[in-house]
Amino acid sequence: MTIHFIGAGPGAADLLTLRGRDIIAASPVCLYAGSLVPEAILTHCPADAKVINTAALDLDTIIGHMREAHEAGHDVARLHSGDLSVWSAMGEQMRRLRALDIPVSVTPGVPSFAAAAAALGAELTLPGLAQSVVLTRTPGRASNMPEGETLKNFAATGATLAIHLSVQNISTVTADLTPAYGAACPVAVVYRASWPDQQIIRGTLADIEARLGVDITRTALILVGPALAGEGFDESCLYAENYDRRYRPQTADSPWASWSHNDD
Ligand SMILES: C[S@@+](CC[C@H](N)C(=O)[O-])C[C@H]1O[C@@H](n2cnc3c(N)ncnc32)[C@H](O)[C@@H]1O
Repeated sequence: MTIHFIGAGPGAADLLTLRGRDIIAASPVCLYAGSLVPEAILTHCPADAKVINTAALDLDTIIGHMREAHEAGHDVARLHSGDLSVWSAMGEQMRRLRALDIPVSVTPGVPSFAAAAAALGAELTLPGLAQSVVLTRTPGRASNMPEGETLKNFAATGATLAIHLSVQNISTVTADLTPAYGAACPVAVVYRASWPDQQIIRGTLADIEARLGVDITRTALILVGPALAGEGFDESCLYAENYDRRYRPQTADSPWASWSHNDD
């Protein structure tokens, strides 16, 4: 049988892919990371599903549940918040499962940085301001950062930074970023994007810490960079009236003039 890893999205129960929902509905066992995955998503489980919150379990115990389900001939829906490609602990579970020859599948989810950007109504890559988004974090009690992956190094690029797992370190974040971005650089903190109690706090590197107050200590994303201002950017060439492109050749001798949509 198969262990289906599914990105459960940022929090809202309807920000889940149809594929993810259908796999959950077809799996007799569901293991979910209860610290961030909302219980509303569990309503997609079959009524008689075995549902286990893994928030308090260690890796051996989690793999034990998966192995037991596999040996009983049951598929497992394994739910992690957001998308699985970042900070999901999927890698270590997969390594164990592969060693045990247990098949796996992966279904992506809506990552929290995308939900936070949606809450802000923001495009994070505005022409002339930023063309890259760095998904990063600061070191935590359980995780060191590899040498070189420092906020100061990322700040040197001027990219939009989406800083996870770090709202409790806001003073270090602002101190590390201010020399490169300047004190007036816009910052947005999105707490529990897409949850009913979502909060958005906007400010600058100079004042975001004071604006945050003491209540927001986890499940928040810090977005930093000039693109957060949402102004002062160029229009893209893509929709410029006279931009010669595959879908809109401008002249008869354009390299795109003889291209047909069926060529691709
Ligand atoms: C363990 S990581 C999980 C990341 C997840 N895999 C993703 O794709 O976003 C948890 C961190 O992601 C961010 N996060 C997760 N859900 C969030 C949400 N709904 N709103 C804001 N930040 C969120 C926070 O920075 C939180 O500390």
